[in-house]
Formats: sequence, C-alpha cells, structure tokens
Amino acid sequence: MKDIFGVEGKVLLVTGGASGIGAAAVKIAAASGAKVCVADVDLQAAEELARQVDPEGRNILSCQVDVSDDRSVTAMMAALVERFGRLDGAFNNAGIGLGAVESAGRKAAEVREEAWRRMLDVNLTGVWLCMKAELRTMRSGAAIVNASSIAGLSAMPMSAPYVAAKHGVVGLTKAAAIDYGPAGIRINAICPGYTDTPLIGHVGKERRSDLAARKPLGRFGQPDEIARQAIWLLSDNSSYVTGAAFTVDGGYSAT
Ligand SMILES: NC(=O)c1ccc[n+]([C@@H]2O[C@H](COP(=O)([O-])OP(=O)(O)OC[C@H]3O[C@@H](n4cnc5c(N)ncnc54)[C@H](O)[C@@H]3O)[C@@H](O)[C@H]2O)c1
Repeated sequence: MKDIFGVEGKVLLVTGGASGIGAAAVKIAAASGAKVCVADVDLQAAEELARQVDPEGRNILSCQVDVSDDRSVTAMMAALVERFGRLDGAFNNAGIGLGAVESAGRKAAEVREEAWRRMLDVNLTGVWLCMKAELRTMRSGAAIVNASSIAGLSAMPMSAPYVAAKHGVVGLTKAAAIDYGPAGIRINAICPGYTDTPLIGHVGKERRSDLAARKPLGRFGQPDEIARQAIWLLSDNSSYVTGAAFTVDGGYSAT
C-alpha cells in the first residue's frame, strides 16, 4: 500500500491491538510502512495478527500487556524500546465494554464496586498508565491518540462506569495536551460511535437495528473507519491538532 497516511518509518504502539479497531489500526499502520508494536492482554491473538500482517516479523512486535497494571505497561515499553529504539506514536485503544464485567451495565447505584473499579482501571487508569510510560520515551514530534467514545461526550442509560471512564479519557487527553504541547507532543482523543467489533457483542439484534437507524448514516461503523482517524492523528498530517476529541460516529451525536 502507498503510504497515504504519512506514518512510513514511524514506530507506533497500538494497545488492544489484537482485535476490532486496534487490529484495523495495526493493519493500516503496517501497510503504510510503520514499525508497529501490537500489545494486547490476549497474546495469542496479538501474535496471530502479527504473523498475518508481517509474516517475517521484520517490522512488527507482538507483546502481552494488561494496561491496568503499571508493571506490565512498563515491561511492554521496555520491550518496544529494546526492539525499535524509540516511540513516535501511540494509540491507547485497549478497553472493555459493559458486557465484559458483570453488573457494570446497571443503573449507577446498582453497579457493584468491583465492577466499577475494573471498568475504570482498564478504560481510564489504563490510558493514564500507558501515557505515563509513553511520555517518558517520546520526543518532540510524537503523538498520542486515546480511545474515548461517544459515551465520553454524552451519557446513555445503564452505563455509568463506562460513561465515567470515557468522559475521563477526554479530560485526561485535554489536560495532558496542555502539559506536553510545549514539548512538541500532541495528544488527542477519538470518540467512536457504535462500531462492529466483539466489544459490542452483547448488544442484541433488535437493539442494533434501533441504534443503527438513529445514525444519520444508518449503520454501525467498521473498525477501519475508526482506525483511519486514529492513524491520521498519529501522522504529521495532523501537526496542528492537539487536545481535541473527535467524534467518528456516522453522525449519531449530531442528532
Ligand atoms: N466498538 C464500539 O462500538 C466502540 C465504540 C466507542 C468506543 N470504543 C472503544 O474502542 C476501543 C477498542 O474497542 P473495540 O471495539 O475494538 O473492542 P475489541 O473488544 O474488539 O478490542 C479491544 C481489545 O482490547 C484488549 N484488552 C481488553 N482489556 C485489556 C487490557 N486490560 N490490557 C490490554 N488489552 C486489553 C482486548 O483483548 C481486545 O483485543 C475501546 O477502548 C472501546 O471502549 C468502541
């Protein structure tokens, strides 16, 4: 593929890179000539994707990480730096949906504390832990993209811990963009709408049709439609963009 995304030669990290939006980002980045670290809690899936994308493994590294665990994140960064020597861009994309944790998808006060903490640990603290490790290594010209959601901009019923975490990601992104702008490092968030990935596997058929119909484009997003926005934000093509949260949602939040 021609490098229409402007990431050729860059060293990029994608967390949650083994599935869905992350996997689409890995494929685009690798096809555009970037060196990519696919990091995921599911090592087998990360390795499989790495083999599929770059069978000789020259420009790809698969790595196991639990983004909610500081030591695991530190080890991921150490492996990445040992292999590629630097980090030019990171897509902090790893996340879990409401279907992943029992009781998370209830009314706010009915969510169990354990479920609340798990959702926040992975979806918000995980982003912060990754940024902390990445920013120690990054130099001027580098960029970070954090995965928020349309749930990071407005709320929906029965989803308090997810909504709180994703709103937190937008706030964290803006605060960090202010802190690191003077160092020449850009930090943005993307806010996808409903996208066809395993994360929303728990959403039933009827509800899916209803949600799709509420989008001006009349359908769910495909993972690569979201990933393209993330890769653009990691490229020099977005050199004047920082501290922003981009909806990529088929028009859902415009209604
Ligand atoms: N699919 C949607 O409709 C949608 C909408 C808005 C935002 N998002 C966000 O996009 C991001 C990607 O989601 P997706 O839809 O591609 O989901 P997905 O389930 O297909 O992929 C998520 C990946 O993250 C990994 N992961 C989960 N917990 C992890 C952890 N603790 N450490 C490391 N990796 C971990 C999973 O193994 C998986 O490979 C998430 O942050 C999600 O909240 C998704």
